[in-house]
Amino acid sequence: MKMTPITVALGATLIFLSVALANVLIPSVVFRPPPTPNTRPYTAQELEGREVYVKNGCVYCHSQDTRPMDWGEGSGFAAQPGDYAYDSPHLVGSARNGPDLFREGGYHPDDWHWAHFENPRYTRPQSFMPSYSYIKGVERRNLIAYLQCLGGRMGTSRANQQRELKVNLVKYYEKGAGENVAYLNSTLPNDWLAMPNPEPVSRGSVERGRVLYVAYCAGCHGEHGDGRGPAKTYLNPPPMDFTLVQASGARPQEPTSGYHYDYRKNEVSAITNGAIYYVVLYGIPGSAMPQFKGQLPSEKIWDVGNYVGWAFMGWKMEPDSGRIEELAKLNKISKKDRKKPPA
Ligand code: HEC
Ligand code: HEC
Repeated sequence: MKMTPITVALGATLIFLSVALANVLIPSVVFRPPPTPNTRPYTAQELEGREVYVKNGCVYCHSQDTRPMDWGEGSGFAAQPGDYAYDSPHLVGSARNGPDLFREGGYHPDDWHWAHFENPRYTRPQSFMPSYSYIKGVERRNLIAYLQCLGGRMGTSRANQQRELKVNLVKYYEKGAGENVAYLNSTLPNDWLAMPNPEPVSRGSVERGRVLYVAYCAGCHGEHGDGRGPAKTYLNPPPMDFTLVQASGARPQEPTSGYHYDYRKNEVSAITNGAIYYVVLYGIPGSAMPQFKGQLPSEKIWDVGNYVGWAFMGWKMEPDSGRIEELAKLNKISKKDRKKPPA
C-alpha cells in the first residue's frame, strides 16, 4: 500500500481508537469489582457532601488511594478495587499536596472538621489549605458527613466512636477544670502519668518548645495557654485552659498518700509531663485534640510539654540542666567538658 498522508492519518486514527477502546471504553463497561466487605453504599447526605467535595476541587490536593507503601499514615490497609464499587466517578486523584483522605473517617471528630474548614490555620497554624468558610450550614455538615464515611464501615464506626466519647468529655468539661483533668487523667495509663521526663525543663528545652507550641498548638490552646485560640469558638469540649489547671487544686493521683513535689516529674500541676506526652502522641479521642504520632518525634514532644508546663502551669525551670552545648553558652560547664559530644 502506498504511504500517502491520508493512509498515515487513517492508520494513526485507527490505532488510537483501538487503544482507547481496549483501555478506556471496555474496562468502564465490564470492570465491576464486587464491593469489599468494608464498603457500603453512600447515604443521601453523604452523596450531597460528595458533590460539595467535587465542586470545590478538593481532589486537586487530596488523593483517595491508600497504597501498599503508605504504612504509618494511620491508613490501615491498602485500597482494593472493590473499595470503589459505589464511586462514580472515582476520586482517586493524583496529587498529594495534603494528606490522603481515603480512610479519613473518624480520624478527627466533627467539631475539628468544622473549625478546620472555617480556617485550616486554626487547627494547624502552618497549613496552606485554603479556607472554606464560604461553605456554610447544611453544605458544611454534608461535607463533613462525607469525610466521616471515608474508610467504609470501619471509618463510619471510628466516627461514631468519636461521637460517643465526646458525650463524656463534654460532661466532665462542664464540671470544671479540676474534675475535667482528674477525669482525663483517669483515662490515661498510670505508668504514663508517673513517667519521669528524660528532658529536663532547661532554658533550651523551653525555647525549643515555644517554637513548637506556636506552630502546632496555639491555634487551639491560644498564645497564652488559656484555651482561647481562634479554633475555640467551634470546639466542644473547648481546648484545655492550662492556666486554670493549677488553680483548680487538682493534684496528680499518687499511689502513695500525701502530695510531695518531685522535680524530675515536675508535679506542680495536675497534668504531669508524662500525661502531656501521652495525649500529644495519641490525642484525646472524642475531642478535637489531635494525635501528633508520626509528626513530632519524641524529644520534641517532651520539649513542647516542658514549655506548656513552664509557661502556663507553674513548673519550675532547672537552670543548671540541659544539653551540653546550651550549658556551654550559659558558661555552666568547663572548657574541657565542652569538647565532649552532646549526650
Ligand atoms: C491547596 C491544596 C488543598 C486544597 C485545595 C484542599 N486541601 Fe485539605 N489539606 C491540605 C493540606 C496541606 C492539609 C494538611 C494541613 C491541614 O491539616 O490543614 C490538608 C488537610 C485536610 C484534612 C485533614 C486531614 C487529616 O487527617 O489531618 C481534611 C479532612 C481536608 N484537608 C479536606 C479537604 C477538603 C474537603 C477540601 C475541599 C473542600 C480540601 N481539603 C481542599 C491541602 C488542601
Ligand atoms: C485542634 C485543636 C487542638 C490542637 C491543635 C491541640 N489541642 Fe490540646 N486539647 C484540645 C482540646 C479540645 C482539649 C480538651 C479535651 C477535654 O477537655 O476533654 C485538649 C487538651 C489538651 C491537654 C490536656 C490533657 C489532659 O490529660 O489533661 C494537653 C496537655 C494538651 N491538649 C496539649 C496540647 C499540645 C502540647 C498541643 C500542641 C502540640 C495541642 N494540645 C494541640 C485541642 C487541641
